Amino acid sequence: MSESNSLIQMTEILKVFYADEVETHALSGIHLNIDKGEYVSVSGPSGCGKSTLLSLLGLLDTPSRGSYQLSGVPVEDIDIHERARIRNKEIGFIFQAFNLIGDLTVVENVELPLTYREGVARKTRRDRALESLERVGMAHRLNHYPSQLSGGQQQRVAVARALVGDPSILLADEPTGNLDSRNGEQVMVLLEELHKGGATICMVTHDPRYADFAKRQIYMFDGRIVDEETLMRLREEEDKRIRELAALQAGDRGEAAADSH
Ligand SMILES: Nc1ncnc2c1ncn2[C@@H]1O[C@H](COP(=O)(O)OP(=O)(O)O)[C@@H](O)[C@H]1O
Ligand SMILES: [Mg+2]
Repeated sequence: MSESNSLIQMTEILKVFYADEVETHALSGIHLNIDKGEYVSVSGPSGCGKSTLLSLLGLLDTPSRGSYQLSGVPVEDIDIHERARIRNKEIGFIFQAFNLIGDLTVVENVELPLTYREGVARKTRRDRALESLERVGMAHRLNHYPSQLSGGQQQRVAVARALVGDPSILLADEPTGNLDSRNGEQVMVLLEELHKGGATICMVTHDPRYADFAKRQIYMFDGRIVDEETLMRLREEEDKRIRELAALQAGDRGEAAADSH
């Protein structure tokens, strides 16, 4: 009997933020399945809930409602310690701003996730960090500090850190957002290589060129997953509304100017 290939199963996930008596429905009924070995991109306009989705997937936050199974384990209600343990074991994060620690060297940064794990010997930690840095082509910069590296190199180190614990999935939130196009492209090629080597990846991006690197594209609008045609239609409607509003305001200003004469 073959084992299930499903890694992530989200059903009817809702996320509501409460701030200053304002309710924001960041996610409104997300259904999402990701299989082991998939490479999925998530795109959509700013504020549509992409980062919120990624932080729920990565157990950095909890849904307001709905069910989430990671590797067959329901994780929506587990306590904070178990959550941290599962996150450390299952999830590798890559952020737009790299998030390397400035006073640690490259190799120390990459070792870091393993230092939070019980029973990983110092030597094992170092060996695995070296291995991980070799995979991203940064093994020649072990003792540099992040500030001594280019943005593209820093992101490669961040990818090595995400890989070091051998996670079930890599979650990347706009990994090219702080990079010029050449370095951005290189990070995309690196993720593609990792995917070919078997890594499961879910990447948030607003850049359609980069979304196409993934094998499956998911589109979001206003807290929901929609298909590409729906996204285009909704964006056009929104643009039209904005243009009408602008025309109206220009008209108001025209009248006001006419009045003042
Ligand atoms: N911690 C928070 N508190 C209140 N509102 C939030 C918080 N995080 C995100 N939001 C709101 O939720 C919505 C989705 O945000 P986000 O997931 O960051 O969008 P995206 O990554 O697609 O730009 C936005 O309206 C945002 O302002
Ligand atoms: Mg975001």
